This record gives sequence, C-alpha cells and structure tokens, in this order.
Amino acid sequence: MIYHQQEILRKELDSFSQKKQSVGFVPTMGALHEGHLSLVEKALSENEVVVVSIFVNPTQFDNASDLEKYPRTLKADAQLLNTLKGTIFIYAPNVADLYGETVISKKYNFGGLEHAMEGKYRTGHFDGVGTVLNLLFRALQPTRAYFGEKDFQQLQIVRRLVAIEQLPVTVVGCPILRESHGLAMSSRNQRLTATQFKEADLIYKTLKKVREHFLEESIPTLQAMAEGIFAESAHLELEYFEIANIENLKTARRKRKGNSYRAFVAAYAGEIRLIDNMELPKI
Ligand code: PAF
Repeated sequence: MIYHQQEILRKELDSFSQKKQSVGFVPTMGALHEGHLSLVEKALSENEVVVVSIFVNPTQFDNASDLEKYPRTLKADAQLLNTLKGTIFIYAPNVADLYGETVISKKYNFGGLEHAMEGKYRTGHFDGVGTVLNLLFRALQPTRAYFGEKDFQQLQIVRRLVAIEQLPVTVVGCPILRESHGLAMSSRNQRLTATQFKEADLIYKTLKKVREHFLEESIPTLQAMAEGIFAESAHLELEYFEIANIENLKTARRKRKGNSYRAFVAAYAGEIRLIDNMELPKI
C-alpha cells in the first residue's frame, strides 16, 4: 500500500503502536535493489509492520544534475516490495508533505563525523540527511530503523543524530550486499554502462587487497597501493581512499592497538559516483 500523506499513514501506524506492536523503518530514495530488500526482510523479521519510505531528498544533494538524474521508479519499487511476505507500508511523499513550505537543512554538529570523507566532498550532505531523517523519524515514530553499512559514515551519523534529537528509535546497521563480481549494490549502479559495471569491481578488489595486507603493511604503503591500482584504471577515477577509525572516522596515519578500522573508497565511473568500504582485521 502506498501512502503519499504522512497524516493518513500515521493513523494506520497508531493502530500498531496502540497494540504495543513494533514498527520497523527502512528509509530509501527508491530505485530499490536486493540490498534494500535485505534491509526490509531484516526489518520484517524483527517487527510487526515495516514502513519503507521512498523519497529523493533534495537537501542532501550538492549537485543539481545528480538530483535530477537520480532514478525514480516508484511503480517498480512497489512491485518489488510486493514480492516480500509481511505487512509493508510505502511512504512516498512529495516534498511539501515532509518539509512543509521551507525546504532547507538544519545545521548539525555531529562531533566531527560530518567533516570526514563524504563530508569533505559533498558540502552540506549530512545536514540534508540528518534533516530528512529527523523529519521522517518524527512523522513515523518507528521502533527500529535499518541502514546498510555501504553508507557506513551515514550509519555512524544517524546514530549520533538519534542521540542529538533524543529520538526513541533503535538504529540497526546491516551488512553490504554485493553483485556477484563484488561491486556493492547501489541504486546508482543502474546508471552504469555494461563496461563500467564490469570494471567497477576494481573497488571491491582493491578493498579486499588492502584487507589482506592490512596486518603486515603500514597505512601509507596501503594508501599508495590502493591509489596505484586506481591510477592504472582506464574506467574509474579515484576521489578518495582512506583508512579510518570506525568510531570517529578520522583518517588513520598509523595503526594503534585496540582501535578498529575500515577502508573507504569513493570513485567515479564516468559521471557516476560510487562508494564502498570494508572492515579491516583487528590488530
Ligand atoms: O541512504 C539513503 O538512501 C539516504 O541517504 C536516506 C537515508 C534515505 C536519507 O535520504
């Protein structure tokens, strides 16, 4: 069932909350793929009802053409969700239903998490994500909300957002789903040409190689190795490769015992920006 108005959906959801039944929430921007479906399935396994929001949020785009070209496939998305068993409500609002009249981002201080990686390259992105999620959480009042680790920085920021806004929702992080050659599933993959799609496995291969050598090599050596691999690619242009501490997302210059790290990549295939990351072995 698709709801375009939060007021009507809220009434439906109230009947679940009144019975003390839990509401799972999977926020998306649509163009759903198996990665999203795995989040919805997890949410269905842990809650009586699941809301999937489908909303291309204008305030998190710093590039007008990226916003305009973002795939919008509501009908196909609804069909895909219909293949799952369980009670699923789709919330597909227009901008006004969610934002009202002023479509602007709130300014957040996420304790520095917002300045790392994606924050450096996408001005205002996390203010936009925080703003829309705050609006969605307040409108839908979910018990649990599910996010993929492909956007690991976003996941850490959402955890901080929930604390800042004092929202009574449990944030659940879920593993990255990959295509058979390793590319992380993403709505943007639909826009890749067949060659770009094939060649984009380089991101996964590089992350895997870094993971394999993490314990014996220094971080600068791993950094140079990753950058060298991309420098030789005719199809992918590296925007950043970073090894960062998972708690504060600060770039790691050397490994410290007791800390946990992940390797992060953003790269362009033509004009399509792809991101990925991988957990690194414990020191
Ligand atoms: O990850 C996304 O698709 C978006 O950033 C989100 C969480 C739906 C907010 O618009």
